[in-house]
Amino acid sequence: MHFTLFQKIGLSILIFAWLIFGSMMLSDILIKVDNSNIDALRLVSLPPSDDVSVEQEAEPEAAAQSAGLDVLMASTDAAAGKSVFKNCKACHSIDKGGKNKIGPNLWNIVGKAQASTDGFKYSDALSSRGGTWSFEELNGFLTKPSEYISGTKMKYKGIKKDGARAALLMYLRAQSDNPLALP
Ligand code: HEC
Repeated sequence: MHFTLFQKIGLSILIFAWLIFGSMMLSDILIKVDNSNIDALRLVSLPPSDDVSVEQEAEPEAAAQSAGLDVLMASTDAAAGKSVFKNCKACHSIDKGGKNKIGPNLWNIVGKAQASTDGFKYSDALSSRGGTWSFEELNGFLTKPSEYISGTKMKYKGIKKDGARAALLMYLRAQSDNPLALP
């Protein structure tokens, strides 16, 4: 096939125009798809409530709560808690069958009924509480004993640092034949 010069010029203009037009169409399609994606995302992330500002304020608090005891405990271990237990040794033994000292023996304390160690005379405050030493109860009590159970005989100021308490809980949990499942 032979083209004249004019035909060649005409043809290249056509191809050029087709390319421009084609790419415009293509980008148009892409942008449309993009927009619809963004709209879909907006729909999903919009809170169901009418009052958006209230919903948004509540979010950081929820996030802080979810970085709670379970997360702290998962990021530490019993070995780290062993050194925190030095704070307790003056009053508590923790070996299996260990003697009660100023405080009761703490073997298998996690998951155990409160004030239930044989041969220890508990305060009324603790013995009338009637709960179980869950991780949450221990965490609350060990933060500040006198405040968590007012009237307790345990004269100990408590452990302020969340991370140190979490490590201690890992250690207490491990001192058992059958450690309670992690929270
Ligand atoms: C100054 C002594 C003393 C220290 C230090 C101390 N405790 Fe106690 N603890 C006690 C006494 C006394 C009780 C009994 C409390 C009561 O009857 O109200 C007790 C009770 C407890 C109980 C409840 C036991 C049960 O059978 O219900 C736990 C758990 C406990 N202590 C953990 C700890 C841990 C962990 C530490 C270290 C961070 C610690 N204690 C430090 C004296 C102490």
